[in-house]
Amino acid sequence: MKALVYNGPRDVNVLEVPDAKIERSTDVLVKITTTNICGSDLHMYEGRTDVEKGKILGHENMGVVIEVGQAVDRIKVGDRVCLPFNIGCGFCKNCERGLTGFCLTVNPGTAGGAYGFAGMGPYSGGQAEYLRVPYGDFNCLRLPPDAEEKENDYVMLSDIFPTGYHATELAGVKAGDTVAIYGAGPVGLMAAYSARLKGASKIMVVDTHKDRLALAEKIGAIAIDNGEGTAVEQILEHTKGKGADRGCECVGYQCCDHHNHEVPNLTMNSLVSSVGATGTIGVVGVFLAKDPGAKDALAKQGQIAFDFGKFWMKGQKMATGQANVKAYNRNLRDLIAADIAKPSFIISHELPLSKAKDAYKNFDAREAGWTKVVLKP
Ligand SMILES: NC(=O)c1ccc[n+]([C@@H]2O[C@H](COP(=O)([O-])OP(=O)(O)OC[C@H]3O[C@@H](n4cnc5c(N)ncnc54)[C@H](O)[C@@H]3O)[C@@H](O)[C@H]2O)c1
Ligand SMILES: [Zn+2]
Ligand SMILES: [Zn+2]
Repeated sequence: MKALVYNGPRDVNVLEVPDAKIERSTDVLVKITTTNICGSDLHMYEGRTDVEKGKILGHENMGVVIEVGQAVDRIKVGDRVCLPFNIGCGFCKNCERGLTGFCLTVNPGTAGGAYGFAGMGPYSGGQAEYLRVPYGDFNCLRLPPDAEEKENDYVMLSDIFPTGYHATELAGVKAGDTVAIYGAGPVGLMAAYSARLKGASKIMVVDTHKDRLALAEKIGAIAIDNGEGTAVEQILEHTKGKGADRGCECVGYQCCDHHNHEVPNLTMNSLVSSVGATGTIGVVGVFLAKDPGAKDALAKQGQIAFDFGKFWMKGQKMATGQANVKAYNRNLRDLIAADIAKPSFIISHELPLSKAKDAYKNFDAREAGWTKVVLKP
């Protein structure tokens, strides 16, 4: 089969590799119909993580079931399914509580497994023609009859729609809240969209990329251009000096100042200042336990200089981590089916898998107009 293979920093290629196949009786084999490139893939692409050479990337996958293992009961050949980026077993202590991003079984020694991802287990990604899905009955989300017609909406259920929603859950966004979101990448835009679905009264989205900010405005958010005065000041102005009720971090450890220099503690400390007293901050942007490629000495050790005193004085709360996609994907699917949600509005490029190499290059450079790439194998 053809697949996008990692060969080293900024070196990926679509190659011929052995076909994915059923390996255990609980597996399902999926023919991929759409697979996205994610901001998380760029951490690997840029060589900032220790993903092994030869790894097939791709964790945002959707397709048609073409084979099921003998122990698979619910999922049938021909089903159109969307796969959560995290792989769960369904029976460990964390999966049982809905925390499938922290499955204790699928990646022994670590809490959490995923397709095509550094440190997330031996699983190949789905930027390929076929994908092996472990524990298929548990991990496949079946899609309704309009699956083909709304393919580009449903594929967002694999990661960024639930992840954006998770940011608002971690932040405790409720109807009427004011919400400050750092990052207008796909995740930040999905957090803004989720906050709108939840009935937030004011949603402020921070970035420097005008094309991405324009998308935030399109869904009714206020665009906060970090290049035009500090984001914190602008958010305080929009909230009568009090700060937002809730904050979402949708950038991660590679956050930059407006000169595009990495300042690893910038978004976290900006959030402490942008969110009001007793407010809540949800952090879905990725921070690494070790980042040897960082320029900053603390960041190399996975640490940031955090405004903890201000955070404490304000009595704020914070929650972090991978999105437990399965906790949300069923309900978000039903919002798409009911024409209430249409997350495909963020897609800028729909390309064949054969164009993946160039797509990585342009998306990584955050070229204007490259917001979200969907690949069709
Ligand atoms: N927790 C999870 O489960 C999960 C899932 C998917 C993605 N992620 C992570 O979420 C983050 C965002 O993903 P994405 O796909 O949107 O990535 P992206 O890189 O496309 O978007 C990040 C955006 O942040 C902006 N940015 C940089 N510095 C900023 C700053 N100081 N203030 C405001 N904005 C700033 C960039 O201009 C960019 O538009 C990444 O770290 C990704 O790995 C986490
Ligand atoms: Zn992703
Ligand atoms: Zn589990």
